[in-house]
Amino acid sequence: MKLLCSDCGQPAPADALFCAHCGGLLAFELDTAAIDGAVLRALVRSRRTSNAHRDRSGVWRYRELLPALDPDRIVTLRENDVPLYAAIDGARYAGLDGASYLHLGMNPTGSFKDAGMTVAVTHAAQSGARVAICASTGNTAASMAAYASRAGVQALVLVPSTGISESKVAQTLDYGAVVLGIEGDFDAALAMVRRLDPRRVAIVNSVNPYRIEGQKTAAFVMLEQRDWKVPDWFVLPGGNLGNTSAFGKGFREAYALGLIDRLPRIAVVQAAGAAPFARLFASGGEMVPVKAQTTATAIKIGAPASWKKALREVRGTNGTVISVDDATIADARAVIGRDGIGCEPASAASLAGAKALVASGTIGASDDVVLVLTGHMLKDTAYAAEYHSGSARFANAIVHARSPGELSARIDELATARAGA
Ligand code: F0G
Repeated sequence: MKLLCSDCGQPAPADALFCAHCGGLLAFELDTAAIDGAVLRALVRSRRTSNAHRDRSGVWRYRELLPALDPDRIVTLRENDVPLYAAIDGARYAGLDGASYLHLGMNPTGSFKDAGMTVAVTHAAQSGARVAICASTGNTAASMAAYASRAGVQALVLVPSTGISESKVAQTLDYGAVVLGIEGDFDAALAMVRRLDPRRVAIVNSVNPYRIEGQKTAAFVMLEQRDWKVPDWFVLPGGNLGNTSAFGKGFREAYALGLIDRLPRIAVVQAAGAAPFARLFASGGEMVPVKAQTTATAIKIGAPASWKKALREVRGTNGTVISVDDATIADARAVIGRDGIGCEPASAASLAGAKALVASGTIGASDDVVLVLTGHMLKDTAYAAEYHSGSARFANAIVHARSPGELSARIDELATARAGA
């Protein structure tokens, strides 16, 4: 695999993070002509019956499509072994005949970041790194901390000192990371990290091309579970836009390898208060950063690093980018909960966005739609508790029963209600 600048195409050394010529982000180029798609498809399927860690991982199972790393020294927690669930209430809510959730929150640390981190930390450890660093709204931090600890690398995370989920910070501390709270927001934290020398400290934000290689495998995991049947639409939340770039790359490679016969259309959904990419997509031009504001704290990002890569991927699939407000995200999140699944607020942008795209006629009611859930429900329980303590549309208040008689009456009431439903 060759490492090239994703903007000017110049080759880059394997340990570089940005292009020495133009400062652009780097990307690996897979030689798809050297791989037989049919042989690969059979090989990855056969690995599902293996008990070897590298075969059970939904990332390393596709190792022929990843950068060359020593497969006997990978840092894995069996990431990306994740389900595709039918969206029942969710489909109805969006106005779709059917839809499914690709739940990347079912990863070892509860978010999609693990798929990228297993590759980025494996690379860092095999390169002899002592310290790994990232800027984060919480999930990258937790994921990096877990993988770095297992690799014997010290994790150092930069997070905004206010306005991120406490559960994520607690998780990050638990895995042994040093947590540095800064006065600024995620964008300020990432700007600080980007100024560091990558030969001194392993930078594992999604500007790191190894992260993208790991995350692209989620496209394969989803397609494989559908026996390589391509959905019409693939809807995901967008923040820093690494994940959009990764999925786009995964779909392109699957297509080039003959594993799929067309590309799904990618729809990126941003929170209205953190939607510079949606604005750029609608009006063209360069990225104009914003001061981000949203209660979906994971995607509270105003200057997305991977916007150029993401824009090429979205355009290449005839996709779209929209934004939805926080109240809509909150309701959509509660609906996903009622499907018995749940997710964190940022993830619910997918369902909220799908609903808006069905309403505008962009997505048809009978289209085959996959909604990406990027983080687990337990990532932000404070948000859920607050939602249910209010009067929002799907709020579900705590009921108090003071006596056995009251409990008994309540059971009858609920049974009658369900019978009539
Ligand atoms: N969903 C969740 C749950 C996230 O944590 C993030 C990003 C996104 C969506 C957006 O993904 O940045 O690739 O477009 N979280 C980062 C973090 C920024 O630090 O955990 P993206």
